[in-house]
Amino acid sequence: MSADRTFSVAIDGPAGAGKSTIARALARQLDAMYLDTGAMYRAIGLAMQRAGIDLEDAAAVAAGVDDIPISVDYLGGEQHIFLGDEDVTGAVRQPEVSLLASKVSAVPHVRERMVALQRQIAQGHSVVMDGRDIGTKVLPDATLKVYLDASPEVRARRRCLELAQKNMPEPYEKVLEDMKQRDWLDSHRAASPLTRADDAVVLDSSDLAPDEVVAALRALLEKALN
Ligand code: DC
Repeated sequence: MSADRTFSVAIDGPAGAGKSTIARALARQLDAMYLDTGAMYRAIGLAMQRAGIDLEDAAAVAAGVDDIPISVDYLGGEQHIFLGDEDVTGAVRQPEVSLLASKVSAVPHVRERMVALQRQIAQGHSVVMDGRDIGTKVLPDATLKVYLDASPEVRARRRCLELAQKNMPEPYEKVLEDMKQRDWLDSHRAASPLTRADDAVVLDSSDLAPDEVVAALRALLEKALN
């Protein structure tokens, strides 16, 4: 891979499509920075819930976001997310935080603040970023844009497995139901809904192993850089 040029890879798609697994592995192989933008919305949702803000009240959410001391740091090469001095990297992965994130991420002012922070963090680095609006909004000039998809059933099965591995098991039916609700919210909100950028490559990962997806993306990036 050309080491003399910085590049950016935007990976968007619905929950459970494998974005973070793929993005993390790709970034590691390419010695690039990985930014999981979902973790940032999760931290905002968690902070607002703790502050007792009604997440259905968009005006209250918008008014509260500027006071949240969110920051991202890299420890041992891994992304950590902080609220003030508290490392909430683990806490934001709790299943109940998913819906909080989906709600706060629908508020335009929250998105503005997060997009600005995401661009600032990535500035000057080769980066692999995953989320819902990376190719459409955060990095419109990304070297490579990918829309990663998989069937809802495959995505729910993957999420169940991931939760079980983290000792937070949830029944499949509940995970599937939550995922469909989140898909709906993420793709129907007015502000930057989950959509595929016109110039994104669509990849369905339902029948692919993670290393097959990573290899396909490496080949696409190689081509885009030449
Ligand atoms: O990828 P995730 O499950 O950690 O994302 C949590 C929520 O945050 C998801 O429901 C939608 C929202 N999100 C977003 O709106 N834009 C992003 N770039 C990333 C996540």
